[in-house]
Amino acid sequence: MTTKKTIGIGLLGLGTVGTGVWKLLEQNGDLLKERAGVSLEIKRVCVRDPKKKREIQVPENLISINPDDILNDPGVDIVVELMGGIEPAGKILIEAIRRGKHVVTANKALIADRGEKLFKAAREKGVSFGFEASVAGGIPIIKAIREGFIANRIQEIYGIINGTANFILTEMADRGGDFSTVLKQAQKEGFAEQDPSFDVKGIDASQKLSILISLCYGVTPPREGMYVEGIDRVTGLDIEFARKLGYVIKLLAISKDHAGAVEARVHPTMVPLHHPLADVKGVFNAIYLKGDAVGETMFFGRGAGMMPTASAVVSDIAQIAQEVSRGYAAPAVLPVMKTPTIQPIEELVTPYYFRFSVVDRPGVLAQIAKHLGDHDISIANVYQQERDAGAKVPIVVMTHDAHERNVRQSVEKIDKLESVLDRTMVIRVERFGK
Ligand SMILES: NC(=O)c1ccc[n+]([C@@H]2O[C@H](COP(=O)([O-])OP(=O)(O)OC[C@H]3O[C@@H](n4cnc5c(N)ncnc54)[C@H](OP(=O)(O)O)[C@@H]3O)[C@@H](O)[C@H]2O)c1
Repeated sequence: MTTKKTIGIGLLGLGTVGTGVWKLLEQNGDLLKERAGVSLEIKRVCVRDPKKKREIQVPENLISINPDDILNDPGVDIVVELMGGIEPAGKILIEAIRRGKHVVTANKALIADRGEKLFKAAREKGVSFGFEASVAGGIPIIKAIREGFIANRIQEIYGIINGTANFILTEMADRGGDFSTVLKQAQKEGFAEQDPSFDVKGIDASQKLSILISLCYGVTPPREGMYVEGIDRVTGLDIEFARKLGYVIKLLAISKDHAGAVEARVHPTMVPLHHPLADVKGVFNAIYLKGDAVGETMFFGRGAGMMPTASAVVSDIAQIAQEVSRGYAAPAVLPVMKTPTIQPIEELVTPYYFRFSVVDRPGVLAQIAKHLGDHDISIANVYQQERDAGAKVPIVVMTHDAHERNVRQSVEKIDKLESVLDRTMVIRVERFGK
């Protein structure tokens, strides 16, 4: 058994998260040493621009622009990738694993795209692979699934895992305003990127959901197998109706296990106001997860940002450092991949919210109701705003359980009616376990 007392770290990237990791190791280094029983030392740092002005003081001799300097350094035990992007990050990590180095990454895009290959390489080489920060930033959901819930079959996952989308929906609900106005404000305040599509179109949430699904069910959903819809069509009117009906609209990442086929979907969802996820506001993230032994659990916290994300990265580093210092590398349970059996969205059965934009004239509701009835969709409630003959009015319909396939077919027909003026808004209603 080795008695290594200092574990060397190679940091690839010194941006938001990398800087956070540097600061946290500096700030809580003594505490970490006490708890982990080992010193953590950054041996090398790789960046793109060594001349860039940074908020931390990094000794010049540690900085390089060549990732090989990290890979070739025998003093580096753990390679920590915080550059982002698929390449060259993917190739560097594969090479690090090949050389027997343990790896840690916060890169959700990389794990969602190449996770299977990376997990396999790490398992075969017997090195540890930490990716806690790749989902929900500071919330230790990956450790919870890999360790805390190892004895459970996970039955359901619901995640609010994109802070930007949750911030926009919360602002729309609390302060009013339409999507585009609130988005502009969020961009001004630094809560949304200048190109927000990754967040508001659900792509970021779908990458994180893909990681959760691979951990829980051992399948990587093929990109085309996951249904992904963003929040950009949600209007202030939908949020207002939702509230009146006892719901709040959230961008939910959902997966449920149906004994063989797994649901995988990201879309705006009607969440009942009494559900704990309804209270998750602003940039906060939450994951609500049900296991067959543990029952329902919920994790809440900051899903991004310098220090929350660094907290997750350093937790991976500290765990691996303890293993290395004690002379064993125990690759934490990495998902063993099975053939993906993702349930097509067309097979979903759930209640629906429809908002039809129609000309206010007699007989329109009857036409809509006929199309719904023809497709086996039973109406639970209808709401119509005050009438203004001949003008455009919204008609909101809440349904009982309906098949997505039927919903799509009926809406396609309804949208062709002459009295229907805009594309119908369809929002799935979540009943949580029912
Ligand atoms: N920011 C968050 O809140 C957050 C939360 C969770 C997960 N993550 C993930 O964490 C990772 C890092 O995010 P970040 O926000 O810290 O990114 P960032 O601020 O853009 O920093 C990226 C860093 O990587 C360096 N870099 C980029 N390409 C490189 C290359 N080819 N060779 C060498 N260095 C290179 C950059 O060097 P220069 O400094 O010289 O430009 C920079 O230091 C991403 O995968 C992201 O998805 C971020």
